Amino acid sequence: MPTNPSEYIWPGVIAAQAMYTAAKLRIPDLLASGPKTAVELASECGAHAPTLERLLRSLATLEMFAATPDGRFSNTPLTEALRADHPQSQRDFTMFLTAPFLWRPLGELYESVRTGEPAFERIFGERFFEYLASHAEDAALFNAVMTQGTQWSSQALPAAYDFSRFERLVDVGGGEGGLLRGILEATPRLHGVLFDLPSVVAGAASILKGEIAERCQIVGGDFFESVPEGADAYLMKGIIHDWPDDDAAKILRNARRAIRPGGTLLLCESTVDSSSYPAGLMELLMLVLGGRERSEAEFRALLAATGFSLTRVIPTEMHSLIECHPV
Ligand SMILES: C[S@@+](CC[C@H](N)C(=O)[O-])C[C@H]1O[C@@H](n2cnc3c(N)ncnc32)[C@H](O)[C@@H]1O
Repeated sequence: MPTNPSEYIWPGVIAAQAMYTAAKLRIPDLLASGPKTAVELASECGAHAPTLERLLRSLATLEMFAATPDGRFSNTPLTEALRADHPQSQRDFTMFLTAPFLWRPLGELYESVRTGEPAFERIFGERFFEYLASHAEDAALFNAVMTQGTQWSSQALPAAYDFSRFERLVDVGGGEGGLLRGILEATPRLHGVLFDLPSVVAGAASILKGEIAERCQIVGGDFFESVPEGADAYLMKGIIHDWPDDDAAKILRNARRAIRPGGTLLLCESTVDSSSYPAGLMELLMLVLGGRERSEAEFRALLAATGFSLTRVIPTEMHSLIECHPV
């Protein structure tokens, strides 16, 4: 942990935008074939060469790119990981919080704390998921980061929880299906339903393919209207924290209407009681976007108000699995 407050800010604020700019210009990809001058790079990516050189020289002080003695630039291990074709590519993650649709609201955290209103809506004039519905490039980045971010959970959740007790699991707001695929792979007799907005599940067939596709249905819809009915298990990972209490309650009530008697609802969320550095900062991202992180007591109250009882909280390395039953 830093010993001086400014270590969080300098160089973090500037480095974040510098890395975003280099990733967006695809400089790490352009350097995959070997060192290049700023003039060569600028002509390939459509940038202003002398200014690109200033960017690369600044990033080189962070060991992001290296200047060679003959005036060219090369990748370093840090920027190799920003290549789109790197097996553990960090490109999407690097461009996520730094992209204007997230960076701008974070820059207005002060206004959110002062007024209690999400900065996102004030800046963009609509709610976060409404905005994504009409901004394809940002939505693609968001969905890709969700799919990559859930890779870890798709192994950790089946290890932490026995899904074989269920016949049919609906992953509500399951994105492009990465988590559901992991659970179905680990649970050979389980059937699954991926449910998300139509524009999001449109990207799911390439993930839920092969043998998994035979046990899986893909359904597009709006969880504020309804969720697929009659399953014995409903999973919501990172859904409730996207919304304030009144919207979260609507989603939970729709799940309560849909769930089979004796069924199980599983929320996969971080609880503020157990948040730590740096995951604890997620609360502030949710704040500017219009959602909130909750304590176990807050989840218990929200669930009780929507017809569920919280039966246990199973900690996993990254999130908690909150198991609930209809009452
Ligand atoms: C934070 S992401 C979580 C995605 C996934 N569960 C995961 O953990 O990777 C929230 C998801 O809710 C979906 N969503 C937002 N509004 C929705 C709505 N009205 N109906 C259905 N899904 C919605 C988004 O498209 C997105 O995939």
